[in-house]
Amino acid sequence: MTTDARVSGSVATALLDIQEPVRDRLDLVPDEMWRIVKADAPIIDAANAHLRSMKGKMFRPTLLLLASELDGSPDGRETGLAAVAELVHLASVVHDDAVDHSNVRRGQPTINAFFSHQIAVILGDYLYSKALAELVRLGDLDPLRAFTAASNDMTLGEMRQLASYDALSFSEADYFQLIRAKTASLLGSSCEVGALCGAPEYRDAMRRYGVQLGMAFQVADDLLDYTEVESVTGKPSGNDLREHKVTLPLIAALAEMSDAERARVDSLFANPTPDDTEIAEVVAIVTERGGIEYARRHGQDFAEAAEAALEPVPPSAARDALSAALTYVVDRRS
Ligand code: IPE
Ligand code: IPE
Ligand code: MG
Ligand code: MG
Repeated sequence: MTTDARVSGSVATALLDIQEPVRDRLDLVPDEMWRIVKADAPIIDAANAHLRSMKGKMFRPTLLLLASELDGSPDGRETGLAAVAELVHLASVVHDDAVDHSNVRRGQPTINAFFSHQIAVILGDYLYSKALAELVRLGDLDPLRAFTAASNDMTLGEMRQLASYDALSFSEADYFQLIRAKTASLLGSSCEVGALCGAPEYRDAMRRYGVQLGMAFQVADDLLDYTEVESVTGKPSGNDLREHKVTLPLIAALAEMSDAERARVDSLFANPTPDDTEIAEVVAIVTERGGIEYARRHGQDFAEAAEAALEPVPPSAARDALSAALTYVVDRRS
């Protein structure tokens, strides 16, 4: 079997198909979210309206709702908790775009670009605190514990990324630790909380599944930054190199580079404002040196580990969708 055939399907798995078993409840999540974050402050209302017009994939709520269905019927808490999961995610991307100086997300101007950097900082805090306040209102300690732990991990992950003073000495182990904290933690918590709402015996399995899927998800995101254009992803491409962020394709390729190639990379990292040509050159070197292929394989390995975590779960439409979500994650283009 070739590497590509292991998890990656020949036909792209559509997000809509994965969402199909939970479509009705997923469609209720946006209203829940905007109920939670509604404010009387005009600026917050304007920013909320802007966020509402930016449509994301709703991947975390999708996973949470699917996990809640693994054992028949969920207990009714899942839609509100799915809204909390998406709000925590939204808070993290509002902050992330400010930190990454990114102007576009979901094909729309980011909060920092459309409003201001300051408003992005405060809005992110607002979204985080509203999400956690909703958990307190629900008075449900396990989801509160899971989502506060994820929020804390995500903050530590983003901080670690920011604080790496010698970016090019970042190792593969450092990278995996980082993406586990900044991305996989919330996907793991979303799946765990879903299980708590209807299939508590699979709580640990779902957490493991979500963390491994989350690793595959961020590896894929980092690949898309190298391989895909903004009109497809809805985010600027090449932004990681522009921001001197070292991700798996570069880490793998660095070990294979000639001195001249390494000098090109060093010069990009020494330049505070690399231009598109410089970025394109390094992307070409990384590709040539096998960095893209290497990261794809690792993404598939994480997806396989997630599939293995599904083993104890009995057959159902929700389980099939969680399995299909793995193919989706490694094949996705946005
Ligand atoms: C973007 O997440 C941030 C990462 C963790 C890579 P998504 O790719 O889920 O973003 P949206 O919500 O669909 O826009
Ligand atoms: C994920 O990292 C950030 C979060 C967990 C919020 P990235 O910086 O790669 O995410 P994108 O590419 O901006 O969505
Ligand atoms: Mg970013
Ligand atoms: Mg990215």
